[in-house]
Amino acid sequence: MRHLFMLGAALVSVASLTGCGKQAPKPGASPSGATVEEPAMRAAVDKLMEDARAAFKPIPLAPPTIEGEEATREKLALGTMLYFDPRLSASHAISCASCHAIGLGGADNEPTSIGHRWQRGGRNAPTVFNAAYNMAQFWDGRAKDLFEQAGGPMVNPVEMASPQGHIVEQLKSLPAYNAVFAKAFPGQSDPITLANVQKAIAVFEATLITPNAPFDIYLRGDNEALNPQQKAGLRLFIDKGCSTCHNGVNVGGGMYAKFGVVSSPGDTLRPPADVGRFAVTKDEADRYAYKVPTLRNIALTAPYFHTGQVWDLDGAIAVMGKVQLGTDLTPDEIARIAAFLGALTGDTPRVTIPALPPSTAKTTRPQR
Ligand code: HEC
Ligand code: HEC
Repeated sequence: MRHLFMLGAALVSVASLTGCGKQAPKPGASPSGATVEEPAMRAAVDKLMEDARAAFKPIPLAPPTIEGEEATREKLALGTMLYFDPRLSASHAISCASCHAIGLGGADNEPTSIGHRWQRGGRNAPTVFNAAYNMAQFWDGRAKDLFEQAGGPMVNPVEMASPQGHIVEQLKSLPAYNAVFAKAFPGQSDPITLANVQKAIAVFEATLITPNAPFDIYLRGDNEALNPQQKAGLRLFIDKGCSTCHNGVNVGGGMYAKFGVVSSPGDTLRPPADVGRFAVTKDEADRYAYKVPTLRNIALTAPYFHTGQVWDLDGAIAVMGKVQLGTDLTPDEIARIAAFLGALTGDTPRVTIPALPPSTAKTTRPQR
């Protein structure tokens, strides 16, 4: 908020300096089509900001749309309900929100998640925040988008453990869902389908973006949005080579890379049995390759790595320097990079916890 006020103040002072609106360039438009800042702001675009803008993009203020799936208010309402409904799990105890808590940075702060019958899964739960900006979903990219991804956890035996067919049967046994589905997917004779469940959840998830991090405000032209320590960290993040992999809107999420380019991170952080992207492509070059994770909101989502074995961000940064870049970062460098990563925490999405259709005598009973 503070920065928005500052931006407003800057615009006002520029307008008064130029006398009248006529000669003043309209913010946002130029003959070449490029974005134009007013003069005061443009003067503040130094080399660091230029380099940053070449590598990263701010999170847009409005959520992305899912291709071919209009985000109607009704679909969004349904998707929100499904995301929070634990009765999509066999035990009726686990919802998407159990492992991707909105209040915990879209993750669960567990090394690996606790699922059905207290079973531990094999990997750390990534954040759902800004997942729509990732090129693919899961650590190994085995789901191409949010729609495909949403089909996974409900039937995964160590996550929600619903037997095939149970989800539709279960939703149909909660009578109040009928009308909600009918409104979300108008004109369909039998709208309670697994595909529609996945569509509604994907539409909801696409709204879980976190704009307005200090770094976004900086990228938009406010040179004061980062403090000197954070700027020094940004400089290192670019110069040391972190941004060759962690870049774009999500400061990650755009490519695959081996975990251990220069040296092995060891069996605790990279157990040999989890072969990463190799399991999807069977290409030897992809052994131990993972989707480069987003570093958006990274200060909120400890523990780190696909194994969730590193609890402090400083430690994770040190590992990255060593195994991806072959460099021993000094404690000072690590502190600066951590300060920069702290500037990637944006606005938490505002989600109203929905009232869910009540269970009735017809409702399928929880399974153990
Ligand atoms: C028991 C915990 C658990 C539950 C319940 C769960 N997830 Fe996940 N989720 C995970 C884990 C663990 C991963 C990573 C798995 C992997 O990469 O192999 C994951 C990955 C994801 C991703 C990919 C994010 C990325 O950046 O790759 C999305 C999106 C997601 N889950 C959404 C959901 C939705 C929607 C639901 C409910 C239908 C759900 N999850 C239920 C634990 C869970
Ligand atoms: C060659 C590509 C590459 C480079 C360079 C790189 N990273 Fe990474 N980074 C990855 C991959 C891949 C992972 C996921 C590793 C895993 O858990 O399997 C990752 C994970 C991380 C994580 C943990 C994210 C999470 O959600 O658990 C942090 C933090 C991180 N990197 C920061 C950095 C920093 C800081 C630098 C520079 C010092 C850097 N990275 C350089 C590819 C890279």
